[in-house]
Amino acid sequence: RARLGVLVSGSGSNLQALLDACARADYPAEVACVVSNVPTAYALERARRAGVPAMALDSKAAGSRGAFEQSLLETLRAANVEWVCLAGFMRLLSADFLTGFPGRVLNIHPSLLPSFPGLHAQRQALERGVKVAGCTVHFVDAGTDTGPIVAQAAVPVLPDDDEASLSARILAEEHKLFPLAVRLAVTGKVSLEGGRTRVAAPPATEGLC
Ligand code: GAR
Repeated sequence: RARLGVLVSGSGSNLQALLDACARADYPAEVACVVSNVPTAYALERARRAGVPAMALDSKAAGSRGAFEQSLLETLRAANVEWVCLAGFMRLLSADFLTGFPGRVLNIHPSLLPSFPGLHAQRQALERGVKVAGCTVHFVDAGTDTGPIVAQAAVPVLPDDDEASLSARILAEEHKLFPLAVRLAVTGKVSLEGGRTRVAAPPATEGLC
């Protein structure tokens, strides 16, 4: 089973979806460790409850981005992590860090990329008046939510939506999409080659757009 390092900053509901998927005998990955850059993140509690090694690396206390990323790399290597999953991890990773896990860093983002990268994606979608929103799992490059796409799921935007209701509808899809995309990636069905996504087999029917 592929060893995942999951990076978090907040509530960790996407981490929970990965932990739940990994608890199934036929899932091809396991969570080897969870690292939060925010010491108070509830995600750390979820990891501990699941019996997964969890630790905080305070990005503010680290002093510099280089120092923070160096300890992050050492922590992930010490846990023999093969794939890195960003599950609500609100820090950009440098190209230097990414070379430590080439083609093996995945991020989930609450919009249909390339629309609405960055912060407050759901608010951006509402302000723009889109009628279809969603979420994306993509390979991470050094840009902000710019990497090649692994999988997406769409939801409608309803006339009386506010940021909270739209976010909740998208989040429910995120919880299905992230485990699906991780499965596709770790089994080599979708991979990063020459800066683009390569699909090795016809897409699975269960929710892959
Ligand atoms: C999720 O909606 C995730 O897509 C988003 O943060 C939330 C984390 O929720 N990530 C980003 O916006 C990254 N650009 P969670 O902590 O409950 O998984």
